Amino acid sequence: MGTFAITGSASGIGAATAARLEAAGHDVIGVDVRGAEIEADLAHPAGRSSAVTAVLERCQGTLDGFVPSAGVGPPFDPATMAAVNYFGAQVLLEQLRPALAASGDAQVVAVSSNSTTTQPSVPAQLVEAFLSGDEPEARSLAAQLGDAATYAASKTALARWVRRHAPTAEWAGSGIRLNAIAPGATMTPLLQAGLDDDTFGPLISGFPVPTGGFGDPDQIAAWIEFMLCDNGARFMCGAIVFVDGGTDALVRPDAWPATYDL
Ligand code: NAI
Repeated sequence: MGTFAITGSASGIGAATAARLEAAGHDVIGVDVRGAEIEADLAHPAGRSSAVTAVLERCQGTLDGFVPSAGVGPPFDPATMAAVNYFGAQVLLEQLRPALAASGDAQVVAVSSNSTTTQPSVPAQLVEAFLSGDEPEARSLAAQLGDAATYAASKTALARWVRRHAPTAEWAGSGIRLNAIAPGATMTPLLQAGLDDDTFGPLISGFPVPTGGFGDPDQIAAWIEFMLCDNGARFMCGAIVFVDGGTDALVRPDAWPATYDL
């Protein structure tokens, strides 16, 4: 049995993942702004530091897996969204990496989104600000661009960060398989807040999902559990797994696989 840290463990996809891992007999260290074993606000550097310190103390320096699931969706203050969705995941990924490497055989599943590929005009400048690690610049751009653009940019940057780092010596070479899941609209409090909004509600309801309806958090958690625990996922590295009822395939069928020329 392993020791797994999960942020956003108090609700939705994070809570469903924690429940699955605990039911399987694993030790789960939950982190959330409230309602978790470790309470920390990942919107701020101090909260991230205290979360990392508490996780490392609790796991005694060795982690078998990590799921940064904490996030917020529109409608929400865009600067805070930038801080939580990207830096609240990326900073913990960096700072928990030594504990993951100490396990010798660790799995990480970041939580991206199908907004990365199904939402038009994701702002490249904000994606670059995230990836350059410039939090003040990312927060400032986010405030100008608004919450919907910031959401998709934060999840695009997180997916790219995963792909850039997964195959490196620090990650794959240290026995850490780093992947991400990209869920489509999944019925959680985050989605419900969007549905309840006068602007976002009709947009979310009208978004085409070929299988019909919304995902269930346990359907996403089942994939995360597989990616964390099943031998079948051990050859997976740097993958962004879309579980979205077919929206990405519907919107851009020929965009992937993307080919390249030498
Ligand atoms: P949720 O609202 O049910 O859970 C998110 C959790 O993150 C909450 O427990 C919340 O307290 C925590 N959180 C928010 N801000 C925080 C902060 N500053 N510090 C610490 N914890 C904080 O939402 P859901 O849907 O389970 O979202 C989980 C992840 O899945 C998020 O990263 C979200 O962007 C992503 N996602 C969700 C989709 C959906 O349709 N529900 C679709 C695609 C991705």
